[in-house]
Amino acid sequence: MPITGSTMPPCGAPFSHYATLLPLLFALFPAFLLAPSYGYDVLDPNGNITIKWDVTSWTGDGYVATVTMYNYQQYRHVESPGWILGWRWQRKEVIWSMVGAQATLQGDCSKFHSAVPHCCLRNPSIVDLLPGVPYNSQVANCCRGGVLTSWGQDPANAVSSFQISVGLSGNTNTSVKVPKNFTLQTPGPGYSCGPAKTVKPTLFNSGDGRRKTQALMTWSLVCTYSEVMAHRAQPCCVSFSSFYNETIVPCPACACGCENKDTCYETAPLKTVTSGSNTGVTPQAILPKIHCTKDMCPVRLHWHVKQNYKDYWRVKLTISNRNYAQNYSQWNAVVQHPNFDNLTEVFSFTYKSLNPYGDAINDTAMLWGIKYYNDLLMQAGEEGNVQSEILFQKDRNTFSFTEGWAFPLKVYFNGDSCVLPSPDAYPRLPNGARPVKVETSMVVLLSLMVAAFLGFLW
Ligand SMILES: *[C@@H]1O[C@H](CO)[C@@H](O)[C@H](O)[C@H]1NC(C)=O
Ligand SMILES: *[C@@H]1O[C@H](CO)[C@@H](O)[C@H](O)[C@H]1NC(C)=O
Ligand SMILES: *[C@@H]1O[C@H](CO)[C@@H](O)[C@H](O)[C@H]1NC(C)=O
Ligand SMILES: *[C@@H]1O[C@H](CO)[C@@H](O)[C@H](O)[C@H]1NC(C)=O
Ligand SMILES: *[C@@H]1O[C@H](CO)[C@@H](O)[C@H](O)[C@H]1NC(C)=O
Ligand SMILES: *[C@@H]1O[C@H](CO)[C@@H](O)[C@H](O)[C@H]1NC(C)=O
Ligand SMILES: *[C@@H]1O[C@H](CO)[C@@H](O)[C@H](O)[C@H]1NC(C)=O
Repeated sequence: MPITGSTMPPCGAPFSHYATLLPLLFALFPAFLLAPSYGYDVLDPNGNITIKWDVTSWTGDGYVATVTMYNYQQYRHVESPGWILGWRWQRKEVIWSMVGAQATLQGDCSKFHSAVPHCCLRNPSIVDLLPGVPYNSQVANCCRGGVLTSWGQDPANAVSSFQISVGLSGNTNTSVKVPKNFTLQTPGPGYSCGPAKTVKPTLFNSGDGRRKTQALMTWSLVCTYSEVMAHRAQPCCVSFSSFYNETIVPCPACACGCENKDTCYETAPLKTVTSGSNTGVTPQAILPKIHCTKDMCPVRLHWHVKQNYKDYWRVKLTISNRNYAQNYSQWNAVVQHPNFDNLTEVFSFTYKSLNPYGDAINDTAMLWGIKYYNDLLMQAGEEGNVQSEILFQKDRNTFSFTEGWAFPLKVYFNGDSCVLPSPDAYPRLPNGARPVKVETSMVVLLSLMVAAFLGFLW
């Protein structure tokens, strides 16, 4: 089968068009340019975690509320060891009791003698309960160890709830002071939360669904994620190869950190017995144990352009876990490539189209494992990878193997963007292939420029 496309037009020519193309670039990404500089993800512009407090009854000295967190993010989930929610009371409120979650510390409750509150801290920190707690300690959507799946992957498990009984607060909708300064940790930083605002009371379906009941008062707040705020080392990188060039383009060196034989692992470390490590209830982040590589990324995604047919082409995508300390449960990947518009089939992974710009541009795919088959990306080692093949129908207007068109523009793993090789390193078609149509090369050039432009800004 012949390879479509070939060499690049003379080098000087394309860049003289740069100035005329710039306005087009700006026109293509107005949302991005107007967006705030943090907490905004172009591939998931409305992604957020919304937290609602629904007051369900007034008590002698306060209220009982159901607190519900909705992870409206398309592909960013909250993994084990789970979320930690905090806030600041405006008065001398106490938490009398909780169902489906608990405060990490009780604080100083020495003023109380007959009945002792669950928590007397001005700034309580709340964590979910682990699965398997007694039935009378549970409420709907609780007790999953603080794990929230993403809305795109599994909306039923993207919700977490608990019930809280608050005292020494007002007990009418005019005397209650809404708590302030909400924080959400997972358990590291990354989220920033806006102020809680009183909103229209939530309507609930009653048991048989024939009657609606209404919360007595509802307030709501929105938390958004920012990779900048997370201050984390890059979590993943991408490598490339193709059937038409023997070169394997590795992840950029030092993409996630530079190799240091004293701190990385050549083979699986021996299991260390953790003796009474986690005595409190506060979830602790898992320290990574990364296999030694030049890029030191815990996760690598390899995109191999595998086959070329007359009307189709095929890619093999391999995701490798190089972290000996972690299994990634319910992992997901997001890949942006213009040919997802003409996707024919994804093998062994679940696929969902994300349309961040509306239906007009449909170039972003969310991929995740099939339950009980490959939804667990095992720790580094022989089994530490998952694979898929992706079959595209060639889009006659844009398809080309030249200038890296066959490689993705943007890749995310578990909601964090991955480091891609620099565009000039992409596997090239061998010299002497047939000349390419000018329109095709312009489209390719534009995609490359968009990639470079976005890469530069993000
Ligand atoms: C939060 O997400 C919901 C659901 O996508 C959306 O309706 C809402 O506008 C978002 N809020 C903000 C402040 O982004
Ligand atoms: C407070 O409750 C009263 C009576 O239930 C209701 O009429 C009023 O709209 C509520 N106010 C707010 C701010 O929710
Ligand atoms: C709490 O939030 C308010 C705005 O609602 C802000 O002015 C204040 O600095 C915050 N306090 C703390 C301790 O973060
Ligand atoms: C990963 O999962 C396997 C199988 O469930 C288990 O044997 C292994 O201990 C897990 N590894 C880690 C680091 O949790
Ligand atoms: C592109 O998006 C539309 C609208 O969401 C969807 O119906 C269609 O299946 C998508 N195309 C592909 C190839 O998934
Ligand atoms: C590929 O998708 C685009 C956009 O949906 C459509 O215009 C074009 O006809 C498709 N090409 C093929 C070969 O199906
Ligand atoms: C393969 O791609 C590399 C990287 O772009 C390039 O340097 C090399 O010349 C290509 N090989 C052939 C045979 O064209």
